[in-house]
Amino acid sequence: MQFENTTALITGASSGIGAEFARQLARRGADVVLVGRRENALTAVAAEITADTGRKAHAVPFDLDVDRAGVLLKERLDALGLTVDTVVNCAGVGLTKAFVESSEQEIHMQLQVNAEVPLGITRAFLPDLLAAGRGALVNVGSMTGYMPVPGMGVYAAAKAFLIRFTEALAHEVRGSGVMVMVLSPGPTRSGFYARSGTSTDGARFQTPEQVVRTALKALDRRRPPVSVIAGSSNRVVRRLVDFLPVRTVLRLAESRPAA
Ligand SMILES: NC(=O)c1ccc[n+]([C@@H]2O[C@H](COP(=O)([O-])OP(=O)(O)OC[C@H]3O[C@@H](n4cnc5c(N)ncnc54)[C@H](OP(=O)(O)O)[C@@H]3O)[C@@H](O)[C@H]2O)c1
Repeated sequence: MQFENTTALITGASSGIGAEFARQLARRGADVVLVGRRENALTAVAAEITADTGRKAHAVPFDLDVDRAGVLLKERLDALGLTVDTVVNCAGVGLTKAFVESSEQEIHMQLQVNAEVPLGITRAFLPDLLAAGRGALVNVGSMTGYMPVPGMGVYAAAKAFLIRFTEALAHEVRGSGVMVMVLSPGPTRSGFYARSGTSTDGARFQTPEQVVRTALKALDRRRPPVSVIAGSSNRVVRRLVDFLPVRTVLRLAESRPAA
């Protein structure tokens, strides 16, 4: 897919996979709009990208854990005079915690940032993409979205929602010129595990570079797949969970953490 002289909005761009999306899209010639809460981190990523690629990189500090986040973000970008051709919904947050010990706020925040926000951003930005008849929408799911994950049930269920929603949407907009894809990483080296309190025991990590390369390579295909899983061992696990009894899958999910 061509990204030259386009503009890409990336949420969760202050670190990890989102920051890497911004780097690789800018290397392919896109200007980038970086969204996250940590202003210093966003500014640092933006400066690095501009120095490296010469592309414009706009840091837009924004807390997505608010009502109508998609509409408000669109208004902010409109006020800045920024129109986007590509949207990457990468902001995400998870907590490893027993459900009964999780507070109302912790539960709601995970549903909001991982499911409602990408849905709202998609609703707010997709009409412009469809009107232009080009561009891409990438929602970042997770391997956990394909299985029940004890201790991370809310996060995994929110990612399952995002995967199913994105797959259905991709079919709705087929033929429009806009590529809609859900990318599901397995364990990836970023601050996510530390922030979520997830054990790294038994996890086989990919790097954000590998994950994003997989996504962009898929978008380069003449007919990009709707669902993309990063990493060959994760693709094997994805197939296995459809055939194994739920009890076995639960034990697997418990012993092999996959944020
Ligand atoms: N790492 C993994 O093993 C793994 C595996 C599967 C899927 N994923 C998914 O990959 C995506 C990126 O995660 P990552 O691994 O790159 O972890 P990360 O480094 O922790 O990145 C998470 C990003 O989300 C942003 N974010 C979180 N809450 C936000 C809020 N309320 N408002 C705005 N931005 C918010 C963070 O920015 P601020 O902190 O600046 O707000 C940060 O940029 C997530 O959707 C995650 O669920 C990760």
